[in-house]
Amino acid sequence: MASLKKSFFIKARDYVHAGEAAIHIQNLLKSMHWDPALIRRIAVCCYEGEMNVVMHGGDGHLLMDLDRGVLSLEISDDGPGIADIELAMQPGYSTASDEQREMGFGAGMGLPNMKKNADDIAIESRLDKGTRVRMRFYLTTGG
Ligand SMILES: Nc1ncnc2c1ncn2[C@@H]1O[C@H](COP(=O)(O)OP(=O)(O)O)[C@@H](O)[C@H]1O
Ligand SMILES: [Mg+2]
Repeated sequence: MASLKKSFFIKARDYVHAGEAAIHIQNLLKSMHWDPALIRRIAVCCYEGEMNVVMHGGDGHLLMDLDRGVLSLEISDDGPGIADIELAMQPGYSTASDEQREMGFGAGMGLPNMKKNADDIAIESRLDKGTRVRMRFYLTTGG
């Protein structure tokens, strides 16, 4: 069977459309009658990754690829990059601005939640070049 691919453009600092890619993917998986718990894990990762591009990154893309029982997400942007990935992964660590905190963001739990909810995660980043987060979900685990 051919793989199913979806691509979404994510615009930096576009808070009006922020989160739409995550909702599209969530609705797609619901229409395929996937396990709600799995959909939830995937939707959390999409949303947190998408919001990080909107809040911290540059313009970017979210790519979804479903192939042979593995759903892969790749969220990349051409923003400022992450100086210290290990630090960025710490629960509560956030460089969100006061303005972003007033909008309710900046809890510093996005990357930790992505790590918790994905079966595996890989983050690559280069300063002034951008960031790429890849996550995978194995549909076979747990039935
Ligand atoms: N795409 C990105 N580009 C640049 N910095 C990022 C990106 N994603 C995450 N970061 C950095 O990692 C930090 C932690 O991210 P996260 O855990 O999602 O918390 P929050 O988004 O609430 O700040 C951010 O505050 C930011 O400094
Ligand atoms: Mg975040």
